[in-house]
Amino acid sequence: IQTLPPMELAEKYFRIFPEEMDPLWQNPCHDKRHKDIWSKEKTCDRLPKLLVIGPQKTGTSALHSFLTLHPAITSNFPSPVTFEEIQFFNGPNYHNGIDWYMDFFPFPSNVSTDFTFEKSANYFDTEVVPKRAAALLPRAKILALLINPVDRAYSWYQHQRAHQDPVAINHTFHEVVTAGPSASKELLTLQNRSLKPGAYATHLERWLVHYQLHIVDGTLLRSNPALVMDSIQRFLGVTPILNYTQALVFDEGKGFWCQRLEGGRPKCLGKSKGRKYPEMTPETRAFLTEYYQEHNLELLRLLNRLGQALPTWLREELQSTS
Ligand code: A3P
Repeated sequence: IQTLPPMELAEKYFRIFPEEMDPLWQNPCHDKRHKDIWSKEKTCDRLPKLLVIGPQKTGTSALHSFLTLHPAITSNFPSPVTFEEIQFFNGPNYHNGIDWYMDFFPFPSNVSTDFTFEKSANYFDTEVVPKRAAALLPRAKILALLINPVDRAYSWYQHQRAHQDPVAINHTFHEVVTAGPSASKELLTLQNRSLKPGAYATHLERWLVHYQLHIVDGTLLRSNPALVMDSIQRFLGVTPILNYTQALVFDEGKGFWCQRLEGGRPKCLGKSKGRKYPEMTPETRAFLTEYYQEHNLELLRLLNRLGQALPTWLREELQSTS
């Protein structure tokens, strides 16, 4: 390329390489040429070492709050736009660039022992995310939480109702999940957002191209978080090992495990986590169990291939359909 003024040079470059118009951010410190032109005032240490990728409604907020109890684990500063989630890799924020992303993270006081993380629950099923995450954070640890996709879909529907989504308010859950192709666009969008993240194996395969994941049983996190947090600490290799049996307490009123404050009082997640709603009808559960059967079988094969333990809900779901 001959030398031209910057704008013309850029236009010419992108005419030759149109696929590069969509950026793919890499860690400037992983390439000497980039590092040499990276400002001396900047650091590459303000990047997370762990991503909690979701999917939504599997207990990701509980996991987030439990992780932050650990003295060496720190989350990002909250985003004013998306509450605590940054949602960098999945949407328009990606185009804000890596300085924007790094500003969400504290300067680590000890680079080798501090563990920063972020949780954005829709990373799990957004197609572009694994590739983008791997370009910037090739050594990050990745945690995914899985519950029965049938319950996940229902929790999502209830979440939408609680947020006054008119489609969720005007349709029963059964109508949402059974809607056929001639249904309204809005209904099909809600159906898609209820059902698609639950095709776990399809989404996991995209992540496995780039990472070895730690797949966590979200049902076990709900019933026995101390056990799950122990295995997560081992996976992260974080020290000291926090005793979550002491750090957490079961709150009978809430019906969930919560942080144990000084004096033993519980500090639970807010009302939007662990909502009260009627049980799913057996008819809808049967429909969805069948709907997810093939996806669950794929998940079984995937977990067997990886040599990972099967979540109890998956065993039960497969037994009920075999
Ligand atoms: P429901 O509100 O439908 O019961 P997420 O944080 O990913 O949005 O997931 C929300 C779900 O986390 C809740 O769904 C709840 O069942 C589950 N959960 C698991 N452990 C929890 C805990 N300790 N406190 C509150 N909710 C918890």
